[in-house]
Amino acid sequence: MNTFARVFQGTAFTSRSPKEVAILQDHLFCINESGIIERVLPPGDADYEAVRDSNPVQRLAPGQYWLPGFIDLHVHAPQWAQAGTALDIPLSDWLHTYTFPLEAKFSDLSFASEVYRDLVGTLLANGTTTALYFATIHKEASLLLAEICAERGQRGLIGKVVMDDPGQTPEYYRDADAQTALADTEQFILAVKRLAPTAKQGVYPVVTPRFIPSCTDEALKGLGELAARHDTHIQSHCSESDWAHGYVRERFGKHDAFALREFGLLGDKSVMAHCNFLDDEDAALFARTGTAISHCPISNAYFANSVIPIARWLDRGVEIGLGSDLSGGFSPSLFDNARQAVISSRMLEDGVNATFPPGRRGVPESRITIDEAFYLATAGGGESLSLPIGRLAEGHAWDAQLIDTTMPGAKLPIFSASEPLHDIFQKIMYLARPEHIREVWVQGEKVHSRAPDN
Ligand code: GUN
Ligand code: FE
Repeated sequence: MNTFARVFQGTAFTSRSPKEVAILQDHLFCINESGIIERVLPPGDADYEAVRDSNPVQRLAPGQYWLPGFIDLHVHAPQWAQAGTALDIPLSDWLHTYTFPLEAKFSDLSFASEVYRDLVGTLLANGTTTALYFATIHKEASLLLAEICAERGQRGLIGKVVMDDPGQTPEYYRDADAQTALADTEQFILAVKRLAPTAKQGVYPVVTPRFIPSCTDEALKGLGELAARHDTHIQSHCSESDWAHGYVRERFGKHDAFALREFGLLGDKSVMAHCNFLDDEDAALFARTGTAISHCPISNAYFANSVIPIARWLDRGVEIGLGSDLSGGFSPSLFDNARQAVISSRMLEDGVNATFPPGRRGVPESRITIDEAFYLATAGGGESLSLPIGRLAEGHAWDAQLIDTTMPGAKLPIFSASEPLHDIFQKIMYLARPEHIREVWVQGEKVHSRAPDN
């Protein structure tokens, strides 16, 4: 059986492991009707020529390469409307002064539609083929975000946010009470499950307590039960800032990770954002339960003043992906976040200045390479979500971005036809912008394209 729905021929970069990028030179990628990569054939494979000659093949031009689509493990969709604003104030002030008033406006479906459509288009143009979204407390607007993902072909995992604790949330932006929050969440889950069959790439409901401080015990417990009953993904913020981490210690006498576990909120389909204050025991609990970290390096530099020793947690077997945390992080690009992940990790491991005591140079086991950051943005995200995405490999969805290093007006600095492909990969990771992302595919369908002159 050598016929396929689509066949792509070209050179691709994909993670084999956290540390190793595989360079698949001039391979054939054979996609079936469901948008899954059925075969990956290297030149020299016995079937290579037969497959190439018996299918219509999309062949890359010189200077073009395939990367897997990016997986953004933490996006606050409504906050796109304030991206880049007010990043100089502490998290709690920022939430109450800017973020909650903005999110409250998403009761207005026409405003929600305008912002969400713009965001989904922007993320696709930045190569993000899957996004794990926090929406707002409004179930209708949250469902609208799922509908927009379904329509635009992005794989969306969407949470109606729960925040019902009057102690930490303003009256104008709060679930009426725990029972209402749980009933709305369950209706939302069912509505997204009804929508899912219309989206080949998948849209998924996500149980979403905003963070422990915003939720009552009753809501947290009920959400754990809902996630188990409906087998959904779960997301929240975990040990993000001094303030949030300290608040949970005071309320429960333990760290977020252990409190979340007691409410049934950890597991293979759980993704926890930030996790700056994880200690060894918390990380071991994450590894044991299959809970993933969504690493948000740009946001962490602002709201947590913190860098996670990512290399250490990877070595301990914790699943980790990359998140933009719009708008705690200002950039919708996971290229930008991958760059920041590397830069921050280097400062943590070996940062020094004249006021440090002599001989003290940061935290060992922190530094990651750009290859590892690429893993976080792709395969690590797929593993975190327990979905077959993030790799250009057999059995995975054809979620891909076509990078053109020769775009007129935005050529990348490649001057030799014999430049090693790994060097070209690194140039792409450090220098690519949306101008270089010529096509974006999700589940075998083209969902974004860019002509050379726009
Ligand atoms: N903690 C609770 N809500 C938020 C949010 O919207 N952004 C960030 N970065 N942290 C939070
Ligand atoms: Fe966040």
